[in-house]
Amino acid sequence: MGHIIAIDRDGARKELEVKPGDSLMFPLRDAMLVEASCGGCASCGTCHITIEPEWMAKLPPRKSDETDMLESLSHFDEAKSRLSCQVNFTEDMDGLVLQVAPPE
Ligand code: FES
Repeated sequence: MGHIIAIDRDGARKELEVKPGDSLMFPLRDAMLVEASCGGCASCGTCHITIEPEWMAKLPPRKSDETDMLESLSHFDEAKSRLSCQVNFTEDMDGLVLQVAPPE
């Protein structure tokens, strides 16, 4: 088990456990921090998070369907935005800090 730090929309920090190989969406949804209404298929945008650039470098690059969804969101930030359902946790992400994006 690893852990991530999620900063919610009110600015509160929450430490969440995450299993290696699981997407970041699962602990965020379980903690009711994101809606994740499409269940993780990159088609709703409700699992949008932002990640600071130093952590972004440790993540795999976006695929085209993730990028397409993100670019349709009003709070898209090219340098920081990811869909949490499209990022699978690996051990080198342990301690990653992310922020839940504002609602659309
Ligand atoms: S859960 Fe719908 S886009 Fe990630």
